[in-house]
Amino acid sequence: MRVIDPNHSEWWRTAVIYQVYPRSFADSNGDGTGDLAGITRRLSHIADLGVDAVWLSPFYPSPQLDGGYDVADYREVDPMYGTLADFDELVDQAHALGLRIIVDLVPNHCSWEHALFKAALAAAPGSPERARFHFADGTGPAGSLPPTDWQSMFGGPAWTRITEEDGSPGQWYLHLFDPGQPDWNWNNPQVQAEFDQTLRFWLDREVDGFRVDVCDAMVKAPGLPSWPYPVHGVVEPIDGRMPPMWDQEGIHDIFRHWRRILDSYEGTRILCAEAWLPPERTARIVRGDEMHQAFNFAYLSLPWDATRIRATITESIAANQTVGAPTTWVLSNHDVMRHASRFGYDGSVDLEAGVGVDDPQPNRDLGLRRARAATALMLALPGSAYLYQGEELGLPEGTALPDDVRQDPVWERSGHTIRGRDGCRIPLPWSADDVAFGFSSSAETWLPQPADFGGYAVDVQQSDPDSTLSFYRSALELRWRHSVPRAELSWEVAAIAGAAADDVLAFRVGTVTVIANLSASSVEVPTGEIILRSEPDAVIGGMLAPDAVVWIV
Ligand code: GLC
Ligand code: CA
Repeated sequence: MRVIDPNHSEWWRTAVIYQVYPRSFADSNGDGTGDLAGITRRLSHIADLGVDAVWLSPFYPSPQLDGGYDVADYREVDPMYGTLADFDELVDQAHALGLRIIVDLVPNHCSWEHALFKAALAAAPGSPERARFHFADGTGPAGSLPPTDWQSMFGGPAWTRITEEDGSPGQWYLHLFDPGQPDWNWNNPQVQAEFDQTLRFWLDREVDGFRVDVCDAMVKAPGLPSWPYPVHGVVEPIDGRMPPMWDQEGIHDIFRHWRRILDSYEGTRILCAEAWLPPERTARIVRGDEMHQAFNFAYLSLPWDATRIRATITESIAANQTVGAPTTWVLSNHDVMRHASRFGYDGSVDLEAGVGVDDPQPNRDLGLRRARAATALMLALPGSAYLYQGEELGLPEGTALPDDVRQDPVWERSGHTIRGRDGCRIPLPWSADDVAFGFSSSAETWLPQPADFGGYAVDVQQSDPDSTLSFYRSALELRWRHSVPRAELSWEVAAIAGAAADDVLAFRVGTVTVIANLSASSVEVPTGEIILRSEPDAVIGGMLAPDAVVWIV
């Protein structure tokens, strides 16, 4: 069994971190919703995979207007997920299994049910209570238009008008996401103090770190200058200008301040940035005295295209090297279409808008084949990697969900033009023959599971050496055994000759040679012992098939 080495201060540089979406992992009390006790019961599945840490998406009290990313109380557990005692038990059990625990910190916005936002609503314009948020008078006749032209990430204006206590139409408040998620004003020292307490609260409960939600939006440009454009995916300049709500210089002071708090605790506690920025901007967040890691969303956003993948790997490593941070890699999370389905499209479908039951469905076999290849490639890259629950089962996106069960606010806010993220949040299948495939003792799960989910269940894959689950376990074990995370990556241009060369990725990482064939034809495999193949039939007669990856020593 693995044990946590408290002296391994650099554990995060090489870690594989497994994301749990608590609502959909495992339900212990039969109400159809996952919970903390359910996670604790299933921890051995995560430990057996061979990962280093678990990141828990929010489990805090919340009206669930944005899947818990609308936090009503930062220092409590939502009764639907259990109690603080359940949380402590989860941390203890995880630590005993050699798994570290990272929790989600949501500092850009809270819920409109947060006590301090309610206090702001009850207080007068210009009051200290309102100053903790971004309240402003409207423009236009009688203040009936929003203070600025900013757009919400979920569609519609980023401002909502309130009714004052006396019943009159009042001020507006800023919410970059749902109206249920008012943005904090980080220029206000009380907001900072509030979050210091929250950090200490969870650090005292022995968490190993925080994944920091939309950390690049916390500080807004002074005066909130005009920005009429919607923002999707990795943030890019428009007309030479960066959006005034993202990546402002002031965020770095906050991160440095937090880093000092974390460093004052025993062991190494880490910060991981969620910031949809290009690699060279993301790297500034992981300078030595700021956060430890940042998600590599440039990598996650790539199509199945060798040239672009090669360029982004090179660029990501270079950008992080300038600041001495490890590069991270990620293919799936709770905000994007699962990669087993994403790679099952040939590019003709607008994936941004999501997929509904009447849309063209992804090619399942191709998607899974490419997903396994993409994972074999990702886990061969030096640094740290993030996995999202269910990807180790090759789980497809729920692309045939009926629209009337959707919960993601994006669907309503976009006027039913963007389907949203429910398809990657469907409860996991654990056992093929049980009610709710072993997720819950109730068949009424909070999002319905597709009828064919049983075929992906953990118990079906457990002892099948060719299953996706077995493949993930092997890849994670080999990654560790061959010291991949700490190795240097060098491209092997000469390894593959011929017309397909551009569409084949070949590189060495330490003692391992990796060949990824993204071309349409088979290519010759260099000599050596094949230690990992993305498919059982990846190599036939010395030739590596299309959409397959091998590791060779
Ligand atoms: C992050 C979360 C996403 C959430 C948003 C607003 O992007 O990952 O799920 O909707 O922040 O909190
Ligand atoms: Ca439950």
